[in-house]
This record gives sequence, structure tokens and C-alpha cells, in this order.
Amino acid sequence: MRVGVVGAGHVSAQYRETLAGRADLDVVMVADRHAERAGQLAGAFPGAQVCDTDDLLADPAVDVVLNLTTPAFHAAITRAALAAGHHVYSEKPVAVDRSGLESLAVTAGSGPFLACAPDTVLGTGLQTARRVVDSGRIGTPFAAHAVMVTPGHERWHPDPEFHYRAGGGPLFDMGPYYLTALVHLLGPVATVTGRSSRPRPVRTIDRGPRAGCDFPTEIDTHEVAVLEHAGGALSTVVMSFDATATTADPIEIHGTAGSMTVPDPNHFEGAVSVRERGRRTFEPVPVSAGYVGGGRGLGLVDLASRLADGAPPRASGAVALHVLETMLAARDSARRGGAPVRVLSMPPVPDPVPLRDQW
Ligand SMILES: NC(=O)c1ccc[n+]([C@@H]2O[C@H](COP(=O)([O-])OP(=O)(O)OC[C@H]3O[C@@H](n4cnc5c(N)ncnc54)[C@H](O)[C@@H]3O)[C@@H](O)[C@H]2O)c1
Repeated sequence: MRVGVVGAGHVSAQYRETLAGRADLDVVMVADRHAERAGQLAGAFPGAQVCDTDDLLADPAVDVVLNLTTPAFHAAITRAALAAGHHVYSEKPVAVDRSGLESLAVTAGSGPFLACAPDTVLGTGLQTARRVVDSGRIGTPFAAHAVMVTPGHERWHPDPEFHYRAGGGPLFDMGPYYLTALVHLLGPVATVTGRSSRPRPVRTIDRGPRAGCDFPTEIDTHEVAVLEHAGGALSTVVMSFDATATTADPIEIHGTAGSMTVPDPNHFEGAVSVRERGRRTFEPVPVSAGYVGGGRGLGLVDLASRLADGAPPRASGAVALHVLETMLAARDSARRGGAPVRVLSMPPVPDPVPLRDQW
């Protein structure tokens, strides 16, 4: 498949690692508002051309658009690419507001495929955990805890402001990893309640040429939610750009026959452990499913191989839209003082990934 990349910023280096030299995916065009960034990325792919975003989206020589822009631009670029007949793999979140959600829900699903990050959910950590749940080893899952805390991305990102403006925040930035994992493990969400707060109104950039610059926090940065899954399980979610650290596991799943720890869903690999009812300790679970050695771009590789088989991508656009609707519901609920908000979409849970060393 011929790939056109829009957005050649920070994360594109990770995609370059995965995509450079692959026979199944050929990066043919790169666009960025900063032409020099596009040029740098294109340099890693022999024959790739630097061009305008509009030219890339209109070019029939592109089969799939890889949308690596900042979140506020995701929906418009994805919608234009789908409308032009290209498949799309987008970075997360798939969109940042209801109008983006609604326009993509109409455009996606008819014709070209929409796939979306996170693709970490296809790695061995989450897929091994999924296999445990599907096997019945922990009985019927009835609860999950998902916890992500960091003092903020301004510690490492040279241009962190977008994380603290509309469309940013911990739930929209990191929530897609955790909520996508929860949907793969426990099924879609039916109802959400949420609350949020803004403990630090000013941030300071730590690294890079603008180190020391202050900027305002324009949105809430400590967000909590309770998700009621359609199957009845209750997930408690804590996402914070304010807390210093935590000792909590990134995700725990509790079932009628046991409890399971799930590794960081921001990573492709990590240890899964299970403590069955009546046992005294958590036991490690051997790796038993997922793409081994994954990196960002794996979801695009999966999209290409699934298309060859006529199957929908496992980094499912339908799940990404559902996760966005769930996050919007959490924020709506928080605005209404914690009143429950229903989630209407009900996507199929993507197929599991068998253990795959080569991909
Ligand atoms: N930085 C990371 O480690 C990381 C990790 C995982 C996911 N992500 C996600 O990747 C996305 C990009 O993040 P980033 O850190 O690379 O941001 P970034 O600001 O470093 O890069 C984004 C790039 O997109 C370009 N761009 C924005 N709008 C454009 C448009 N309309 N047309 C053409 N180019 C446009 C910008 O010029 C910039 O070069 C975000 O959605 C983020 O959540 C980032």
C-alpha cells in the first residue's frame, strides 16, 4: 500500500522506525505545515515526495493516509481523506469534539476503512490479557481500575501547549490507550459518569528551545470517570496531568474467579499476572497472544494485512469513535456535576491477535 503521511512532528520518528524498509507499505508522500519537517521524514523513505496537505489528499497515488497531525486537525484531515477514497490510519484521539465525532461517524463505515491509534492494544501485553479474559480463567469480569497519572507532558515535549487547550487534557491524550484496552477486554461502554478539576492553572516548559516559558492551563487536567459497560462490568478511570506518581497498576481487572493485572496500555509489551480466588499470590502469565516486538505503526501494518484478507482493521476506527463518544460523555457528565450520560455507539470488539513473531 502506498502511504501518504500528513504531520511529521515528534511522533513521526516512531512511525519511521516501524515503516522504513517494509515491503508491504511504501511511504510515497509527506506533508507538514513545516516543510523542513516533511523533508526530514521523507528522507527516510526512498522516492518519497514532500508536498502540500491538499495535494496529498487529492492524489490517487496514495492508498492510505497516515494522519499524524495534532488532535485538533485529526477530524478534518481524516474526513477529507476518506471522502477522497483513501483508507486512513489516524493518531489518537480520532477527533476532539461532537461535531468531529458525528461527521466521521457518517463518513467512516462506507467505503474506505478508518483505523486509529492506539495500536499498542495489538501488542503482546494487552492481547495476552485479553486471552486470559476470553479463556474464563478469572471468571466473569465485573470491575476494572485504570489509572494514569503524570505531572504533565511539559516535562519532555518541546511544544506542549496543545495538551492544555480544548482537545487536550489527560482523558483525551492518554484515555484512548486505557479506554481502548477496556473495550477490547470488557466490551463497549453504555453509560458514563465523570468529574474533573484544574489544580495547576499555569505550566512551565521544561525542555527544548522554549524551556522556562510559562503558558496557561485552559482546560481541566485531573479527570475521573465510572464506565458502565454494556455487559455490566464497571470500570473506574483516573487520568491526571497533576499527580506526581502512583503505585497503582495501570489496569486491574476483577472477575468472579480471580483478579488480573494488565500492563501499561501505552506500551506494546509488559507483564500480565493473575491471582485466582483461593491463591495467595499473583502468578505471571506467559506471553500467549499479540504481535511480538510492536512499535507505533503496527496498526497500519495490521490494516494492510487485514485488507489483503478482506477483514476490518483491528486498530478499529469504530472502536476509536466509540472511545471518543465515551470520553465526550465523561466530560459532559463532569460539566453536569456527575449526571450519568448514555453512550449510543456499540461497536463490535475487534478480533484477537494470535501470537505472531513475524509481521
Ligand atoms: N509525541 C509522542 O510521543 C506521541 C505518542 C503517541 C501519540 N502521539 C499523538 O501523535 C499526534 C502528534 O503528536 P506530536 O507529538 O507528533 O505533535 P507535534 O506537534 O510534534 O507534530 C505534529 C505535526 O503535525 C503538523 N501539522 C499540524 N496540522 C497540520 C496540518 N493541518 N497539515 C499539515 N501538517 C500539520 C505540525 O506542523 C507538526 O509538525 C498527536 O495526536 C499525539 O497525541 C504522540
